[in-house]
Amino acid sequence: MVLKLAVLISGTGTNLAAIQQAIEAGSCDARVELVVSDRTSALGLGFAAEHGLRTNVVGFRDYAQRSDWDRALTDAVAGSGAQLIVLAGFMRVVGPAFLERFARRTINVHPALLPLFPGTHAPAEAIAAGVRISGCTVHLVDAGIDTGPIIAQAAVPVLPADTPDLLHERIQHAEHKLLPKVIDAIARGQIVLEPALSIASADSAADSPMLLSPPLLDGAA
Ligand code: GRF
Repeated sequence: MVLKLAVLISGTGTNLAAIQQAIEAGSCDARVELVVSDRTSALGLGFAAEHGLRTNVVGFRDYAQRSDWDRALTDAVAGSGAQLIVLAGFMRVVGPAFLERFARRTINVHPALLPLFPGTHAPAEAIAAGVRISGCTVHLVDAGIDTGPIIAQAAVPVLPADTPDLLHERIQHAEHKLLPKVIDAIARGQIVLEPALSIASADSAADSPMLLSPPLLDGAA
């Protein structure tokens, strides 16, 4: 089944590009119905336009109250008919109206092996902590910051000469592989998000020693 997506971005949109390229290559059974950004300056909007994807900007600063922005964002996404919402570098915390409507249908990609290093400085914090392995996590979105149930993770080495930017770049390469795979697995029913997170099998994780997925998360949510 072709899974209808809304992809929410704030920045460069390299994860959006990875998703769209996987779709165009036939390795991700999905379609991007709408790209939404909270800022007009998001570079990823350019990629979306070049690829003929519908875009919408719901500017955070265009609304007097956070709750108004939350409702406008919810309405924009609802209007797209998306079955799965992907936060791909979306730098705002979604609000209660959004979560009421789309809880268990919204995933986020984060540049660390959660629950370590949530928040906006994950690569720098991984380096400061002296860990030798970091990576990325795809997780369900809940009301917390990077706290929802973990769906899949990919590990990435932290090298002695790493700066936050170098490490982040290496992690993003892993994100670009993992995120489209997770979306495809959801489209194929191998990962089920509702009513509880369940992952059919970890076979796909055997492709690469750097891809780590828990063997079975049935009922873990
Ligand atoms: C990614 O590293 C993601 O983990 C984090 O924000 C970054 C977005 O990058 N949440 P891009 O906009 O997809 O290039």
